[in-house]
Amino acid sequence: MTSAGRVPSVERMAEHTTLLPRRTLGTQGLTAGAIGLGTMGMTMAYGAPDERSSIATLHRAHELGVTLFDTAELYGLGTGSNEQLLGRAVRGFRDEILIATKFGFDLSDPARIGRALDSRPEHIREVAENSLRHLGTDRIDVLYQHRVDPDVPIEDVAGTVGELIAEGKVRYFGLSEAGPGTIRRAHAVHPVSVLQTEYSLFERAVEAEVLPVVRELGIGFVPYSPLGRGFLTGAVRPAAEYDADDMRHTMDERWRPGNYEKNVAAVRELTELAQSKGWTVTQLALAWLLAQGDDVVPIPGTRSPRRLEENVAAAHVDLGAEDLARVQEILPYGAAGSRYPAAVMPTWR
Ligand SMILES: NC(=O)c1ccc[n+]([C@@H]2O[C@H](COP(=O)([O-])OP(=O)(O)OC[C@H]3O[C@@H](n4cnc5c(N)ncnc54)[C@H](OP(=O)(O)O)[C@@H]3O)[C@@H](O)[C@H]2O)c1
Repeated sequence: MTSAGRVPSVERMAEHTTLLPRRTLGTQGLTAGAIGLGTMGMTMAYGAPDERSSIATLHRAHELGVTLFDTAELYGLGTGSNEQLLGRAVRGFRDEILIATKFGFDLSDPARIGRALDSRPEHIREVAENSLRHLGTDRIDVLYQHRVDPDVPIEDVAGTVGELIAEGKVRYFGLSEAGPGTIRRAHAVHPVSVLQTEYSLFERAVEAEVLPVVRELGIGFVPYSPLGRGFLTGAVRPAAEYDADDMRHTMDERWRPGNYEKNVAAVRELTELAQSKGWTVTQLALAWLLAQGDDVVPIPGTRSPRRLEENVAAAHVDLGAEDLARVQEILPYGAAGSRYPAAVMPTWR
């Protein structure tokens, strides 16, 4: 942070890309710029894709020192489009960044996409080969199991990813949304470098049991949806104003009438706090996550170079004890409403 307590200008950050500090994820040697970039919204979930703007955002991220780029087989909805977009965009600087992707879904039936799981070893291998091809690369830096598959022992999953690592096709093993017991069992077979799970001012469930376990085992933590799918920004709108297939319409109870108004009121208070310090509320939300530990690298998603600049600059916002206490006062337990409908969550972990 500058002496004035404000974040450095984007121009200054661009001149000094090393200003984005690096963080260590896990104890296997993985390091990344303190803020990464999620690419899900570039092909699904949050309205019409804009390929030009998405590619410009990926290029700007690299210029600003972002190194962790997050994709998944799922984000192409079975077509490979998200990984292909990312692979094309980063071709000129592939060796300077980390590509994280994920397996774990059966995408063969369009009607069940996102709900049908498949982490059988042969399927993991098939998906990893497809990801390598779609990304146009010879190795995946982080390979995550996207969702725990209750029909496949986690030991078999860890063993298979361990083999892919031994073959040089994958560098680090990650889990997503796994619970403490699963994390321990996987880690005993092959070291887990990083856990990715939703975590933000709106979603705090990991604090009780998950964060203590990853810390005990020396596993890095990547909060996904760190902006609460865009709620923790100045740009939130009521669900009805998003496209009919937008996740905020179809899945997220934080936008439901009754919850929505309470959450808007909390974000208004956070915005007042942020503005009094010369930050945006988005920067406050990301800086709060960074303040939870040196082992945390959030991956906000955006398709806009300007928003990306705003988000990356949050790495230079230092929250003091008073700011953290005020944030806790405004949102002691997270948002009103669940992040996913209750029906889809019991199969996880
Ligand atoms: N492991 C998992 O199961 C899982 C699940 C969900 C997501 N993820 C990963 O996590 C990444 C991030 O999560 P997410 O995309 O769901 O949610 P998010 O990062 O919390 O929010 C993304 C939304 O915020 C908007 N936004 C971003 N920066 C903004 C800013 N400065 N001002 C105003 N609006 C802004 C984006 O809109 P624009 O694009 O229009 O800027 C987008 O609609 C994903 O891309 C994906 O890689 C993983």
